Amino acid sequence: MKKLWGGRFSKQPEEWVDEFGASISFDKQLASHDIKGSLAHAKMLFQSGIIEESAYENIKNGLQDLQVQEQEGKLEYSVKYEDIHLNLEKLLTDQIGPDGGKLHTARSRNDQVATDFHLFVKEETLEIIDQINELQNSLLNLAEDHVETIIPGYTHLQRAQPVSFAHHLLAYFWMLERDKERLQDSLKRTDIMPLGAGALAGTTFPIDRNVTMNELGFSKKYLNSLDAVSDRDFAIESCSNASMIMMHLSRFCEELILWSSEEFGFIEISDSFTTGSSMMPQKKNPDMAELIRGKSGRVYGSLLSLLTLMKGLPLAYNKDMQEDKEPVFDAVKTVKGCLSIMTGMMNEIKINEDRMNKAVHQDFSNATELADYLAKNGIPFREAHELVGQMVLHCIQKGCYLLDISLEEYKEWCPIVQEDLYEALSPKTAVEKRNSEGGTGFQAVRQQLEAAKSAVFIS
Ligand code: ARG
Repeated sequence: MKKLWGGRFSKQPEEWVDEFGASISFDKQLASHDIKGSLAHAKMLFQSGIIEESAYENIKNGLQDLQVQEQEGKLEYSVKYEDIHLNLEKLLTDQIGPDGGKLHTARSRNDQVATDFHLFVKEETLEIIDQINELQNSLLNLAEDHVETIIPGYTHLQRAQPVSFAHHLLAYFWMLERDKERLQDSLKRTDIMPLGAGALAGTTFPIDRNVTMNELGFSKKYLNSLDAVSDRDFAIESCSNASMIMMHLSRFCEELILWSSEEFGFIEISDSFTTGSSMMPQKKNPDMAELIRGKSGRVYGSLLSLLTLMKGLPLAYNKDMQEDKEPVFDAVKTVKGCLSIMTGMMNEIKINEDRMNKAVHQDFSNATELADYLAKNGIPFREAHELVGQMVLHCIQKGCYLLDISLEEYKEWCPIVQEDLYEALSPKTAVEKRNSEGGTGFQAVRQQLEAAKSAVFIS
């Protein structure tokens, strides 16, 4: 069967070679964007006097029919027509006759595919922003209930200083906020229209790129046709943004996994997001959190594929670039799936305040409080640090904590100690009072919550 570009050829590739070269198996995802692009292009061709009205009407009706069939999942594509662009052109021509062949005037698949891809990435970026917003809202709800819930704060995964649980949750809120900002910013470089660049050099037809730009809702056009067809920065940026989001979700999941272990017991992940074991009846595994952590790998992989794909390509279009779509499709699908699961998981999470409270009373994370207490009472901090270190060692040897030491014993160790030390050493005081800007003090966290609330859209 003859190719749509077959004029120059005397021999057809065999089917297995066609299959190797085809992208229809995955770029069919761009069908709706391709039809949208074609509708805009056809309108512009007519308005610029390049095709006559009857041809335009025919093409428009045909494309609209295809649009309906596409939405209903009724279009049938063939590997023989290589990609979504040629498949749709073939379907259109079968439907409306030779006028279908006029659609591709002043256009190349090179500017066509780039346009479809920009439309796709733009749409998905907006969806991801909405999804992040939902996750942020669920974190905010949880944080509001837990300003005064105290958990151990860690450095090196060793107990460091107690913190407000809301403060800990809000740390993730701000990571997501930066992710959202990055996505928003990347739209500036995605929202640019390549259409009208032709194969690489523009066209001699009197096209009007403002018409297609407005029709397609782009806010800018590429100003260099070579750049227009060969730029994939926006795709790389979308994978980079997705990677950063996954890195954040993965860190969060790592904590959820730790916290839901018997050893921590701080939270319980809802049954809806966990699974059992086929052998061990007692098990409740945090599978979804683990999967999110695991899936970060494939998203990083997408980013690396694209960077590597593009690094050696001369201008302008090269067939290598057909490999640009699957990594982006996969990264976008993965990140969206992970964000939904994460939001669902956070909405149903159970917080075990008792275990958190117990944990902060069974450690030495108030040692800094003791050193600060001594420092406030005139002992140079360095000396206080040394003294407290000795006291911690003493407690470890005795098998007790700083709050278990009697006042008499404290006085023997350091005579300036008074009864008010116990108040200072309580984890609640340790957290409550850290009201420096951005600190974990209750008041500071409440202020932070207000700032966070004004950052998310009202949903
Ligand atoms: N399927 C191709 C791609 O995804 C479309 C562009 C093909 N252009 C060409 N001149 N072969 O990149």
